[in-house]
Amino acid sequence: MITADLQGKSAIITGGASGLGLCAVELFTEMGCTVAICDVNEERINAQVTRLSEMGRHVLPAPADLRDTNAVDNMVKQAAEAMGGIDYLVNVAGHSVTLEIIPPGDLQSQTEQLWQDIMSVNLMSVFRTVKAAEPYLRESKGAVVSTSSMSGFRSGGSSTPYCVAKGGVATLTKELARGLSPDVRVNAIAPMYVDPNDTNFPLKWESVFEDSKDLPIPRPGTGREYAEVMLFLCAGAGYMTGETLHVDGGYNA
Ligand SMILES: NC(=O)c1ccc[n+]([C@@H]2O[C@H](COP(=O)([O-])OP(=O)(O)OC[C@H]3O[C@@H](n4cnc5c(N)ncnc54)[C@H](O)[C@@H]3O)[C@@H](O)[C@H]2O)c1
Repeated sequence: MITADLQGKSAIITGGASGLGLCAVELFTEMGCTVAICDVNEERINAQVTRLSEMGRHVLPAPADLRDTNAVDNMVKQAAEAMGGIDYLVNVAGHSVTLEIIPPGDLQSQTEQLWQDIMSVNLMSVFRTVKAAEPYLRESKGAVVSTSSMSGFRSGGSSTPYCVAKGGVATLTKELARGLSPDVRVNAIAPMYVDPNDTNFPLKWESVFEDSKDLPIPRPGTGREYAEVMLFLCAGAGYMTGETLHVDGGYNA
């Protein structure tokens, strides 16, 4: 369990209405941060804003479809104005787009449209939010944390375009770290197995407990554990930028 004093700080957390993004919203607001909850699902945003506000947390709705550049620009501007700036941009939103695994050998199922849809929601979305938030993050000397995946570092994720998009998040993280220096630190996390209680990801990893039982840490990671790494990369990690931390229970050990 790590803590930080985020009183007076403000963050946009994308994908914040569900799963790992919601766990990050919970943790950042617990530390005193004001958080704009960005998601495409307005109903879920409103439910979480109501619930968290009743707990005394500082949250505001920031609905946007991250596949739409204008929507992202407007969302970031409105959130920054409402919060008086942006200290942290936490990119968690992502989508498998497919509802079943497409093996890497099945090239015929990988249509142009599938590639474009997956790249837009998982990779371009990160570029769009960072581009829109750049002036505010430079002003605050803030930090960006994005969400890659272990799928970006090995074959055999939900589909080839998803793996490539998540690998692209790590590459983009390096580019942005150099590009926004010395004002803004830019890092990412690469999750592996996620506790099913802490995710609504459309493509369900049914055997997550079975598959993770041989890891050095023999279980899936909780949303809180992933969120704690995001918090560390935002509020601490002062000498880290351009890095993608593998948060994988020792999968790579
Ligand atoms: N669940 C896993 O096993 C796993 C493993 C590795 C990486 N990841 C990555 O972690 C991140 C969080 O996943 P999760 O498990 O919490 O999934 P989730 O589905 O619970 O949460 C993702 C959120 O992103 C939102 N979103 C989807 N498309 C959007 C769009 N176009 N615009 C705005 N918001 C959009 C969804 O509405 C949802 O609230 C994703 O980037 C995912 O790729 C997940």
